[in-house]
Amino acid sequence: MRKKIRVRAGDGYDFIIGDGLLSSAGELTASVLNADRIAVFTDSNVAPLFADDLEKRLQKQRFQTCRFVYEAGERSKNLDTVSAFLDFMAEHDLKRGDAVIVLGGGVAGDMGGFAASIYQRGIKFMQIPTTVLAAVDSSVGGKTGVDTKYGKNLTGTFWQPSLVLCDTDTFRALSPDDVLDGYAEVIKSAAIRGPRIFSDLEEGKFHTAMPDIIARCVNIKSDVVHEDERESGVRRILNFGHTMAHSIELKSDYQISHGKAVAIGMLMVTKASEKHGLTEPGTYDRLYQLIHGEGYRTETDIPLEELCEAARHDKKTTGDSIHLVYLEKIGSAKTKKVRLDDLYEFMNV
Ligand SMILES: NC(=O)c1ccc[n+]([C@@H]2O[C@H](COP(=O)([O-])OP(=O)(O)OC[C@H]3O[C@@H](n4cnc5c(N)ncnc54)[C@H](O)[C@@H]3O)[C@@H](O)[C@H]2O)c1
Repeated sequence: MRKKIRVRAGDGYDFIIGDGLLSSAGELTASVLNADRIAVFTDSNVAPLFADDLEKRLQKQRFQTCRFVYEAGERSKNLDTVSAFLDFMAEHDLKRGDAVIVLGGGVAGDMGGFAASIYQRGIKFMQIPTTVLAAVDSSVGGKTGVDTKYGKNLTGTFWQPSLVLCDTDTFRALSPDDVLDGYAEVIKSAAIRGPRIFSDLEEGKFHTAMPDIIARCVNIKSDVVHEDERESGVRRILNFGHTMAHSIELKSDYQISHGKAVAIGMLMVTKASEKHGLTEPGTYDRLYQLIHGEGYRTETDIPLEELCEAARHDKKTTGDSIHLVYLEKIGSAKTKKVRLDDLYEFMNV
């Protein structure tokens, strides 16, 4: 199965998903990149799995390749790694017409895309996402960046790739836990704009028709990003569950991963919004059944006061308020401006 979605952001680009796609990576790259040199940006776990094969296929198309490998993990997502990669590209004589291919998860995509956006004032790049999270979320929409000592993703750019190539065979090397992390963003997409996808998830179709489900979620993200590329309005709905999730990640010292925290965050806000009469009755129950049934934790023992206090430092706050995303019903999300001083009262149901 192979599916192609046109992402309507920047100049527009294709997101292609299917099994065995890496075997066509050379030809597909040649169809969008007119570079002499390509720097493959990847991490220490992914490189031994797929980088040799990718480079061989690129070289067959007469691209000259070089490879930069960073130590896998969020800890590497900083300016030092980007700076080392910028130097690496200069040492390998990459010019403005050359390009970067990011091979890996969301960390690789965010950092490699960021480096491409600033190297020689911006060169082209391509994404080959190898985690479910990167496929369904971070490879689409053009947000790039790194963490700083003051917080996650505090430095970055909007820079759209020329192509996203998602070979679902690469997911076979992921642990079930890694898959669960990405699946939370699938549930989020369905909950905010995909009522039929949500029903399919309730029937267990994520596990039997994953490429199709991911493609439909990418379509949702593409539509939202098209409407609001710079996140001044509707794009905020993509943050459903993320306000509490960011606090949970932070307060657990990142022991609770992003996806697991998003699952809890979606439940917390939906429980509250339903109690406040903003959400159709029964919505929380459907969300709970799905999330619980997949084996996620559904609550945290971190006190709510602490989570609300941590939300004050979230970069998504505006002044003394936050745009809290809630569901009107499954498949329809809204935002509500809540003063940070009132967040605890809102959530404490
Ligand atoms: N730009 C955006 O819009 C956006 C959206 C959501 C998340 N993000 C970012 O994405 C990052 C999280 O992404 P992630 O979870 O993919 O992290 P990641 O890139 O660190 O990948 C997670 C782990 O899986 C390993 N891995 C990757 N592919 C593999 C494969 N096929 N087989 C085996 N192991 C593999 C990696 O080496 C790593 O250890 C965060 O930094 C987050 O801020 C960005």
